[in-house]
Amino acid sequence: MLFSRFPRVQLATLPTPLQHLPRYGALANHPEVYIKRDDFMALGMGGNKLRHLEFWLGAALQQGADVIIACGRPESNQCRLTAAAAAKLGLKCILLHNTEKADFLQGNILLSYLMGAQSMYLGEIDEDTRQEQALALMEKLKSAGHNPYLIGSDVPLGCLGYVNAALELHQQALAQNIDLRHVVIVGAMGGTAAGFLYGTALLGHPFHVHVISVEYPKEKIWSILERNFNNISSLLELTPNAKLAEVATVHAEYLGPGYAQPTPEAIQTVRDLAQTEGILLENVYTSKTVWGMRDLVARGIISPQEATCVIHTGGGPALFAQAELYQPR
Ligand SMILES: Cc1ncc(COP(=O)(O)O)c(C=O)c1O
Repeated sequence: MLFSRFPRVQLATLPTPLQHLPRYGALANHPEVYIKRDDFMALGMGGNKLRHLEFWLGAALQQGADVIIACGRPESNQCRLTAAAAAKLGLKCILLHNTEKADFLQGNILLSYLMGAQSMYLGEIDEDTRQEQALALMEKLKSAGHNPYLIGSDVPLGCLGYVNAALELHQQALAQNIDLRHVVIVGAMGGTAAGFLYGTALLGHPFHVHVISVEYPKEKIWSILERNFNNISSLLELTPNAKLAEVATVHAEYLGPGYAQPTPEAIQTVRDLAQTEGILLENVYTSKTVWGMRDLVARGIISPQEATCVIHTGGGPALFAQAELYQPR
């Protein structure tokens, strides 16, 4: 009902599983730790961006698009999942990378290539210049008679995928008799967390959401979340039942030296979750998030008496490009 005005393509495998983590919970001194497996989807090895892509590609198909363009570094999960979705829908996919071409493809870029995407390497340029080049490519394709769609050009529309994820998790927790009180979710560019926060606010704040920043300092991620939250509200033409500041706390203390730069605790968390639960994380998004959850318990910010769920947003293929961190000594 909430989303019926928005065209949507089915790409994600929903609902994603909600699983108890008894052995990792024992390490974290919390008996009721859960994980929501957004990494566990059938298409293109899954991950958070499939929820966004359901709405973006719904709009693209409605507009009659024949070429899908996505931008990112070769490690980008968003590029990989755009390639997967385009392959499934029979659309041409062009990826613009702000880096030089590597001699050897591995991780996400290898998978994007296998799924038929065409990669263009723009050299080491910043994201604004990359965006200009993407817009220039759009114009060129239009003059050649194509109808291109640029992934990510409508941020709030993609966020609807995670508005839905909050509603989905709430229903699952009720069905499994879990009195869920805390959710821990990653925040990089903030679309995923903002959607989830908006969904939580629509529900009237049944659980508190801790956003673990893996890209920006606290003030910056907060202002991104605020902007997205308000834009989702305008898009849905709804006033939520709680304010952003009531629903969310942002933690930037797990960022370490910066985006995609692992901390010792995050590296250890990849091993810990793998060896206690057989679940794989990676070192850009999910290891800092799971470590953040554990440390929030240790600091008394999350009580071990209150059921807590961490969202696994995927990104597993990136682990193969981070292999040097895990070689046996
Ligand atoms: C696996 C994974 N997790 C989390 C994120 C963060 O999502 P957002 O940029 O919406 O904060 C990304 C972003 O690309 C991702 O690929």
